[in-house]
Amino acid sequence: MCNGIAKPFLKWAGGKGQLINKFQALYPQELLNDKIDIYVEPFVGGGAVLFDILQRYKVKKAIIIDLNKELINCYRCIKADVVELIKYLDAMQCKFFALSETQRKDFFLEIRDKYNKLHLNGEFDFEKASDFIFLNKTCFNGLYRVNSRGEFNVPFGRYKNPLICDKENLMLIGKLLQNVQILFGDYSICKEHIRGKTFIYFDPPYRPLKQNASFVDYDKSGFNDDNQKELACFVKEISQYDCYIMLSNSDPKNTNSNDDFFDKLYEGFNINRINARRMINCQADKRGDITEIIVRNYYSK
Ligand SMILES: C[S@@+](CC[C@H](N)C(=O)[O-])C[C@H]1O[C@@H](n2cnc3c(N)ncnc32)[C@H](O)[C@@H]1O
Repeated sequence: MCNGIAKPFLKWAGGKGQLINKFQALYPQELLNDKIDIYVEPFVGGGAVLFDILQRYKVKKAIIIDLNKELINCYRCIKADVVELIKYLDAMQCKFFALSETQRKDFFLEIRDKYNKLHLNGEFDFEKASDFIFLNKTCFNGLYRVNSRGEFNVPFGRYKNPLICDKENLMLIGKLLQNVQILFGDYSICKEHIRGKTFIYFDPPYRPLKQNASFVDYDKSGFNDDNQKELACFVKEISQYDCYIMLSNSDPKNTNSNDDFFDKLYEGFNINRINARRMINCQADKRGDITEIIVRNYYSK
């Protein structure tokens, strides 16, 4: 049941579903007053913030960007013809549910293999989008992780009856995306889209709290400290334009109270810390309460 409210159609590492209620107090007043012309999300991932904003506030237009081509293909297919995508997913779900546990695992591996072998075919590849969503719903913990060759390598998840084809939710998302421009590429292309009153929310891959503890491999290029620094330079540059910027990341002070990486990087910005709960972590004991850092170039009234 989705009660008419669209929610992310994927489980996504770093997804912001848990933080949405806290975010509302951090948005610019202009968004709350429906005075934002353009909403831009340059690291859209599962789109928890996008869907919330599109349903709660009036923005004239939204632009989403991600460096994961297959993810962008899903958004594009949902926007272009959600009914067609539902047909594909429904067929996969029927097939999957009819199988025994062992057969389901084999089917998962077959789809994963096909997914890794076949390249995206055109701007709207419905089969690829359907395989992507199927893998997300049936793989371990809903992770998206690729190896150095860019191959999706998450194992089978053994869920009892995963909802592979959530028709109602997909239909709602299909409607919401009609006013959204969907771009594949690096976050920096968002600069070209700052026009009028623009609100940009940056949710880059987390900076690992421990050297080996993180999950950042959304694509084979990764996102290291140098990338975080480049992003900070970019944020400073575009902050001079007429735009409201909000950025979130993991708080290094959770594991080392002396680590002021982001405090230094975003010196002069409005920095807050909010309680968060990490949902995607292989070790259950690491899913505890921690803080997340929020950087803004404005203050709430
Ligand atoms: C923390 S996730 C965003 C999660 C999202 N806010 C949600 O609620 O699901 C970061 C996203 O940034 C994307 N990404 C990584 N490097 C990027 C880059 N240079 N430019 C644009 N997107 C990038 C990843 O593919 C991933 O989807």
